[in-house]
Amino acid sequence: MIARTVSQKLGINIDHVATLRQARLGEEPSVLEAAIEAEQGGADSITVHLREDRRHIQDADVFELAEKIYVPLNLEMSVSAGILKIALKVSPEKACLVPEKRKELTTEGGLDLFSKRNPLIRTIDALLAKKVDVSLFIDPVEDQVREAARLGAYAIEIHTGSYANAVGKKKEKELLRIRRAARLGRELGLRVHAGHGLNYENIFPLLAVPEIIEFNIGHSIVSRAMFVGIARAVQEMKKIITSGKC
Ligand code: PXP
Repeated sequence: MIARTVSQKLGINIDHVATLRQARLGEEPSVLEAAIEAEQGGADSITVHLREDRRHIQDADVFELAEKIYVPLNLEMSVSAGILKIALKVSPEKACLVPEKRKELTTEGGLDLFSKRNPLIRTIDALLAKKVDVSLFIDPVEDQVREAARLGAYAIEIHTGSYANAVGKKKEKELLRIRRAARLGRELGLRVHAGHGLNYENIFPLLAVPEIIEFNIGHSIVSRAMFVGIARAVQEMKKIITSGKC
């Protein structure tokens, strides 16, 4: 049992429901139904990544989710003029800016906030003007955290992929980097989220990082849902997050 002071929230990324649908370019499984089931299981928000290559989530999914789900929609997006145009039309409650590469299997790392500054600043400012809570997906690097605060972001989402992939002593080191970045983020007034590669086991040490107020999890929950359904897969993760035990 892990002692914690604030209740941490759970955002569910349902991109891979769309991955399955796009395998046949058909109608099923329904992304909207998945979102509703995730809500029933206790999701605090629904995340979808509208990729430039549209490999899973499609524009129509984003508009439909924005209209029909009850919990906040978190739109993951790259810094791209075309995607920004759609985001401004959808006006989701939250947007998370991520790097994107055509050939990657999934987002491979955090944004470098020191490169491609002008489009980055334009994107952040345009979203903030629409009252969208902007989070920046960054590696647990202190300079990046400081820059996120300077850019006026509402939140950072700490990329936990390196932590998730590490083993042994390296895992401890990655955890320490996350702890330090989270503490600094909080000190600078940023909300601190975390995500990528998290599952029903490796999330435990992160529950004890009090600055992290939200986890965004996709692949492990959608995978578990294959066997128990989405609502229960979400409920199980939610129970871990709220009680610190399985
Ligand atoms: N957070 C961000 C910014 C992501 O890009 C992703 C993957 O789309 C996730 C969280 C969820 O990662 P996973 O599917 O590995 O749980």
